[in-house]
Amino acid sequence: MACSERYVVGLDVSHTAIEKAIELSSSLPNSSYFTFLKSDFFTWHPPELFDLIFDYTFFCAIEPGMRSRWACKVQEMLKPDGELITLMYPISDHVGGPPYKVSVSDYEEVLHPLSFKAVTIADNELAIEARKMSIRAPLPFILDNICEGSSGFSLVE
Ligand SMILES: C[S@@+](CC[C@H](N)C(=O)[O-])C[C@H]1O[C@@H](n2cnc3c(N)ncnc32)[C@H](O)[C@@H]1O
Repeated sequence: MACSERYVVGLDVSHTAIEKAIELSSSLPNSSYFTFLKSDFFTWHPPELFDLIFDYTFFCAIEPGMRSRWACKVQEMLKPDGELITLMYPISDHVGGPPYKVSVSDYEEVLHPLSFKAVTIADNELAIEARKMSIRAPLPFILDNICEGSSGFSLVE
């Protein structure tokens, strides 16, 4: 995702997760185009608004009662014409969590009142075999196009 046209911020509240991400990525050729930040998603105030937010299995990690706050915070951090990609996982019937089960309607319930519109909802062909039936991702191919066709400032949670 990160390239000269797109600066990416990776956010997690866990110090260990951030340390590991830095360790695994610091020698990558595009390392000057991304950063990792230890912060609480719900209280962090970015220095500028994002063109794109990619929720990578964060929605399922929070208490279901926090989902409306998640949607409001996503909207607060996006530019008015910004985009949200959210990897829907796990789509299952299990009880409890985290990860808590999710469904398309769980996302719609909190995003529709804020006027988000789903452009695409599709099964993720790139998912590993064990997860294939439990993952869906709107706009799954946008990642392939990001460096070629668009530019900006992105947040990955
Ligand atoms: C299912 S994991 C996904 C992590 C990462 N995206 C990945 O795919 O490896 C959920 C992550 O959410 C993080 N998390 C939980 N509450 C958070 C919060 N309030 N702000 C930021 N990150 C949080 C956890 O530390 C955990 O790493």
